[in-house]
Amino acid sequence: MLASLRRSGPVQKSFASRKFRFPPLSVCAVFLAFAVTARADAQNPFGNDPKAAKAGEYEFRINCALCHGLGARGGGRGPDLTRARKKRAHDDAEMFAIISNGIAGTAMPANGTNGQGVGMTDEEIWQIVTYIRSQEVKAPAKPTGNAAHGKELFYGDANCSLCHMVEGKGGRIGPDLSSVGGSRTREAIVDSVRNPSNRLAWGLTEATKEFPQEYETITVVTADGKQIKGVALNEDNFSVQIMDMNEQIHLLEKDKLRSFRKSRESLMPVYTPELLSDKDLNDVVAFLVSVGAK
Ligand code: HEC
Ligand code: HEC
Repeated sequence: MLASLRRSGPVQKSFASRKFRFPPLSVCAVFLAFAVTARADAQNPFGNDPKAAKAGEYEFRINCALCHGLGARGGGRGPDLTRARKKRAHDDAEMFAIISNGIAGTAMPANGTNGQGVGMTDEEIWQIVTYIRSQEVKAPAKPTGNAAHGKELFYGDANCSLCHMVEGKGGRIGPDLSSVGGSRTREAIVDSVRNPSNRLAWGLTEATKEFPQEYETITVVTADGKQIKGVALNEDNFSVQIMDMNEQIHLLEKDKLRSFRKSRESLMPVYTPELLSDKDLNDVVAFLVSVGAK
């Protein structure tokens, strides 16, 4: 990776200017910590008022259902919010803070930023909190599948760890799956494995971009005739950053390339039931859910 970054001058330059656009992580962390503690003692002014829940349902459909699904039951990109025991939003104040500030390092956007529709007032956020509470089901979902066997498959015969990391172990071509079990529904994970190209995973949301980068497949031929194929890590009008199958990162200027092709066909192989039975896949999903619940 270092070798390919070091190779030529212009690459260095665009790498440096890219860096400049991001605020330092520490600044974000301090800001977030402040914003969260500032709301720590806030109380929901609506309690469980059904009228507020109705208004919240409307807001939810516009701003949240895209990821959390209709009825807040979970969708392709966000967790089921009807579970009474939540991973992070332990009380109303925490839920308010999460909806206001988003969750850094995940797809959960801050209020009024890209990805979460129009900005909401505090009152509207409390209405959504009231709505989510009204949708909660008290019984926890029944666990299915054998997580221990799923873990063996993940790191063994099913080869998932060649491309995916879970808890710091595995490859990096595909997204880190440590939190996927907590942020996506079982059905959505199964669909990603059976039909990877249906819906490509998103990379992290960045403040400077309107949309997060998707894991598109990119094939280029460089000026000296070398073909490189991999996933897009970052792309703008002038340059593209690719990770190839050997996990080497290439930062390339588009106008210097002989050819550039982008495809929405996932680099992940299609796992048919012959390759990975329904039962084994269920075990792998159980493993991911057990990790994601931590
Ligand atoms: C672009 C997708 C996306 C949108 C839009 C979105 N969310 Fe999320 N949300 C997520 C993801 C992903 C997580 C899980 C993050 C994690 O814990 O890894 C999450 C987590 C949460 C949590 C914490 C759940 C828990 O278990 O503690 C709450 C509450 C929440 N979202 C509410 C909302 C509300 C309300 C809206 C609309 C105003 C919204 N989200 C819009 C993706 C989204
Ligand atoms: C050859 C590399 C490769 C292998 C092997 C592989 N994947 Fe993937 N996977 C990817 C890539 C690249 C993506 C991103 C593009 C996409 O969404 O299909 C991805 C995406 C995913 C996603 C969607 C993640 C998200 O955040 O939406 C899931 C879930 C997933 N893989 C699970 C698995 C499991 C389980 C296995 C093993 C049974 C596996 N993958 C094997 C490369 C791989």
